[in-house]
Amino acid sequence: MKERNEYNRRSFIETASLVAAGFYVMPLFSSCKWDKSSAHPNVGNTVNADFNANIDIQLKTVQSKTNILPNKNTDTYSYKSSLIKGDKQTLQQLEGSALGPIIRVRKGDKVRIRFENEISEKSIIHWHGLHVSHENDGHPEYVIGKGETYIYEFEVMNRAGTYWFHPHPHGHTGEQVYRGLAGLFIVTDEEEKALKLPTGDYDIPVVIQDRTFDENNQLVYLANGRMDRMRGFLGNRILINGKIDNTLSLYKDGKYRLRLLNGSNSRAYKLAWSTGEPLTVFGVDGGLLESPKTLPYLMLGPAQRVDVWLDLSKKSENEELKLVHLPIPLDTMMSGGMMGNKSDNSLPYNSQFDILNINVGASRKNEANLPDNLATSKTLNPADAANRTSPRTFNFGMEGMMKWTINGRTYNGMAVAEDEIVKLNTTEVWRINNGGNSATESQNDGGGMMGMHGNGGMMGNNRGMGNMMQMPHPVHIHQLQFNIINRNTDNVDQNLWNTVKDGFINKGWQDSVYLLPGMYMDLVMRFEDFKGLFLYHCHNLEHEDMGMMRNFKIE
Ligand code: C2O
Ligand code: CU
Repeated sequence: MKERNEYNRRSFIETASLVAAGFYVMPLFSSCKWDKSSAHPNVGNTVNADFNANIDIQLKTVQSKTNILPNKNTDTYSYKSSLIKGDKQTLQQLEGSALGPIIRVRKGDKVRIRFENEISEKSIIHWHGLHVSHENDGHPEYVIGKGETYIYEFEVMNRAGTYWFHPHPHGHTGEQVYRGLAGLFIVTDEEEKALKLPTGDYDIPVVIQDRTFDENNQLVYLANGRMDRMRGFLGNRILINGKIDNTLSLYKDGKYRLRLLNGSNSRAYKLAWSTGEPLTVFGVDGGLLESPKTLPYLMLGPAQRVDVWLDLSKKSENEELKLVHLPIPLDTMMSGGMMGNKSDNSLPYNSQFDILNINVGASRKNEANLPDNLATSKTLNPADAANRTSPRTFNFGMEGMMKWTINGRTYNGMAVAEDEIVKLNTTEVWRINNGGNSATESQNDGGGMMGMHGNGGMMGNNRGMGNMMQMPHPVHIHQLQFNIINRNTDNVDQNLWNTVKDGFINKGWQDSVYLLPGMYMDLVMRFEDFKGLFLYHCHNLEHEDMGMMRNFKIE
């Protein structure tokens, strides 16, 4: 074992120095050659008079200056919004933050969004978690340049839940999100309303992101270049809702719904209350769970959302309560085993740090309760899957020289491979694999790509450099919500697994999952309502930008 590791380390360092010396040039950005006017006339270009929108919003990406740190403003990007039609509550600005707005809609609303791009980079918006058509999904091929407009028109078909939106231009998603472009898209419905969950001041968004600032208060992104990119950005401080002030002043006796979104580029969190009390989670990506779940701590990967219940009736005034990140032994892995960067001052995974600081103020009660039975949602039955005996397998891993891939392939515009085509109105099981199920490797031809497969389990067969670069991959599938059938951890490092295993929620509807090295998961999903191309990808935004993203086609 030791010998093998030594061998791998050496060959890895050799490779890394070749890379550093410029012998291998990765295509980090591929330019968009898609001509949207010729292939998709009018997609996103015009307001459709027949679409009877009851909510009409203008969203503009702008360059902004935000007072994040004392003395000097930070250059940021923001979505500037205005309501053309709809209730006033539809748009909520986050004062003093680059993030936002929060968009609040009801299931069944017909929403038009006029997206105008005023920044000098191309951009497009993806509605993360929403069940919308291809044209409304924010495919990178529909990016618009400065001064252009893209019109989205869709009906909200999702259940009540916390969804979100962010840019999706290929190669630049990470940077644009990092500079401030992201907002929550909150859906309510009748079923949720009947539960009388906390609303208004008691329904609190908590967007968690890590950032690094220089001495001029400017955001630092990927200062260590390619090595940072291979790993994914990790910052040295936590922002909550775009601010450094992470204190929430809440009322004693209040009952709160905290809507957590991990909006970080690549960082996952192991969240726990500082008091040692368990966390009560009652919703995930795609809305409410059937019943609340109590966990000692919670793992929240990039892009994931959870609803956390917080009852302050047992607290006393001025009591302090913190939500903290607990140590996870991921640092070595995250540095690829060898990229111990001296200049990297990011928050170590294997340390404890504060996420949220809750200040219990004067008493003010609200009428809200957390029922044991929250929502009836008929989940999918794997027995109904067209491919129930042989799951469609997607291997997330490293291919060849320092390239993150899915089944050996990288993003290539509208291209879709044979094994990425599914049928409308079918249910399927997808196995997403991060080196957990190495038996499936040989089935995939790597899309004609040369190089080694790096998908042997951490503790399994070491077959090359890829092993040294096994990392967590937060996987997201567009357009739908799925159910988790199985999370296999046989090949996950047992020390790592034991520190995180009680923090995962396998129930409910989800669109993003956190795949540890050596893990694979079986997901059941159904393709409904819309044909067309949709993305699935790693939501480590640096991995995504490097091409760890592909289309699947519903036909
Ligand atoms: Cu939130 Cu395709 O991503
Ligand atoms: Cu990844």
